[in-house]
Amino acid sequence: VVFENSSTASKAVAKEMADLIRVKQAQKQPCILGLATGSSPKSLYAELVRMHKEEGLSFRNVVSFNLDEYYPMEPDSVNSYVRFMKELLFNHVDILPENIHIPDGTLPKEEIANYCNQYEAKIKAVGGIDLQILGIGGNGHIGFNESGSLQNSKTRLVALDHITRVAASGDFGGLSNTPRTAITLGVKKIMEAKRVILMAWGERKAKIINASVEGPVTNQVPASFLQEHNNATFIIDQEASSKL
Ligand code: GLP
Repeated sequence: VVFENSSTASKAVAKEMADLIRVKQAQKQPCILGLATGSSPKSLYAELVRMHKEEGLSFRNVVSFNLDEYYPMEPDSVNSYVRFMKELLFNHVDILPENIHIPDGTLPKEEIANYCNQYEAKIKAVGGIDLQILGIGGNGHIGFNESGSLQNSKTRLVALDHITRVAASGDFGGLSNTPRTAITLGVKKIMEAKRVILMAWGERKAKIINASVEGPVTNQVPASFLQEHNNATFIIDQEASSKL
């Protein structure tokens, strides 16, 4: 779905998310959200905060699972996704702290595999993700599932692509300070989400949006796997649609 700009598009995504939260509230059910970081969902989170403050949208029944975190990463570091989520969303709404899940970038390496299995088990225990929000990397990554990630890949520690590290290097004050690894939800759990919305804005995403939507389904472009999801929508602005 192509919107005129990222602002109107983000409002539409926020509306769908708020409607789902309210439906689940009426059913006295938790609403399981898969959340993303990066610049793309910033306007979505701003709109959700506005809806909380001005329209009384409550997050008391929301259980969230973030896609990924750099490794190693301290939660209070400027570039941590924990900090990102707190500053843009969690600190401003009434979500219960015990319902927030973000991969832990501080674990000893030998504990990561077990931790990742537990992360997936927690998602399974609450019945799976109702709505998964995604951005897309310039190479087609979803979460930090880089090119080459398999469709049935599990939550795991991954090596970041050079192109991903270059894109992030501005935030880290140069490539040598940019993490080489990250923990990411696997493609399998993303594909198991009942509903997936991928958001992309701007000309710089046009080429990879074309490859993801109109190209072959290939592990070289992990976002292309979403062609095989039965309820996935790419919500993009006009610039990101320019090569379709
Ligand atoms: C990071 C995140 C991805 C995100 C991507 C795109 O790599 N781990 O989940 O989709 O950035 O970022 P942006 O939305 O800033 O273009």
